[in-house]
Amino acid sequence: EQNIYILGIESSCDDTAASVIHNGKILSNVVATQKIHEEFGGVVPELASRAHQQNIVPVVSQALKKANINKEQLHAVAFTRGPGLMGSLLVGTSFAKSLAYGLNIPLIDVNHMQAHILAHFIDEEGFEKPPFPFLAMTISGGHTQIVRVDSYFEMTVIGETIDDAVGEAFDKSGKILGLGYPAGPEIDKRAKLGNPKAFKFTKPKVAGLNFSFSGFKTAVLYFIQREVKANPNFIAENLNDICASIQFTIIGILIDKLKLATKETGIKHIAIGGGVSANSGIRQALKDGEQKFGWTTYVPKFEFTTDNAAMIAIVGYLKYLDGDFAEQDVVASARLKI
Ligand code: KG4
Ligand code: ZN
Repeated sequence: EQNIYILGIESSCDDTAASVIHNGKILSNVVATQKIHEEFGGVVPELASRAHQQNIVPVVSQALKKANINKEQLHAVAFTRGPGLMGSLLVGTSFAKSLAYGLNIPLIDVNHMQAHILAHFIDEEGFEKPPFPFLAMTISGGHTQIVRVDSYFEMTVIGETIDDAVGEAFDKSGKILGLGYPAGPEIDKRAKLGNPKAFKFTKPKVAGLNFSFSGFKTAVLYFIQREVKANPNFIAENLNDICASIQFTIIGILIDKLKLATKETGIKHIAIGGGVSANSGIRQALKDGEQKFGWTTYVPKFEFTTDNAAMIAIVGYLKYLDGDFAEQDVVASARLKI
């Protein structure tokens, strides 16, 4: 009977996170979200790495404490090697290396994008694990990908954004409307009160399974500028309808690509991850897809969808079972591919 404890560390963007996993079950999942970026309307890389330096020791200590173990009980340290912001990645990477070296236990490097997908394999009551092969759609402020997953570590990116991520489409549209950062949650809230067909935004034309959101953001900007010129109170008078229409268009873009992906691959099991999967409209559209297209959809527990270290810990556990370890000379990689 195995009895494995692994510490996961995540620091790829603006969340400093640590988690302890015991076999497949999460014992602690601590995230320090950096508030500092809100006033800048986006993540400032230099400030992010400094905040990681301040947060990493307390966050790791808290994760061990909440798991009720001490560091000598750990079997391995897993960390996010990339992709992400270089300065941010360096903090987690250096810390993980030193800790593993000091404890004389294996070090495990983790790809952040694989981790978003493998978060579905955390043991969690009430959440089913997708069967192989399945399609994973990772949607957040930093990523937009559709991945074909044939086994834990056989993954193929079959579509991705050629410019902005879908979360940026929400956040930048929100900025145009004068909403705070990140705007995704507020657009979601207001969309529930508005008419999704009130305004029409054209969907970008991108061939195959790739996405593009930079043109969409510009379309929103021009639309708002034109309407505000005619009526200075346009935004205030129509905010819920505008949010509903923006969200409706974005969801349409995602669902169209998923339909194409299921058609091309013949795979109808769809797992989603990333912060945007919190969106209530997307969740509803996926549920509708089960009825309309015979999909089976998987949405992980919320705390495992946004950036977190539990997903790093589960990959650490799976790699530990495979004996797939990193050397001390492993380096962070900002553009690491799946
Ligand atoms: O995964 P995440 O926490 O961090 C990364 O970007 O990696 O995702 C954050 C993104 C932001 O763009 C935020 O606006 C978006 O997820 N988001 C949402 C919702 N909740 C978070 N977008 C739409 N609807 C939501 N309910
Ligand atoms: Zn992420």
